[in-house]
Amino acid sequence: AKYTWVEKDTCIACGACGATAPDIYDYDDEGLAEVIFDGDSNTGNTEIPEDLYDDLQDAQDGCPTDSIKVADAPFNK
Ligand code: F3S
Repeated sequence: AKYTWVEKDTCIACGACGATAPDIYDYDDEGLAEVIFDGDSNTGNTEIPEDLYDDLQDAQDGCPTDSIKVADAPFNK
């Protein structure tokens, strides 16, 4: 299983993740990314389905500040 969470303290609102994986990431009022998949609210507790793994990987690889965290267990943020 995979889970994801955005470290907003290091996000620079570059906008790449939401363009790459719009089903997983969106932006708050300040343009900082957050996980919106299935109402996750950037808690990192929602399991990402396998059909989105490619998007997830691409978003993680594309973030210039390594703010997109991915793990096999929930983040509980
Ligand atoms: Fe922020 Fe990285 Fe996305 S800088 S907007 S988390 S690609």
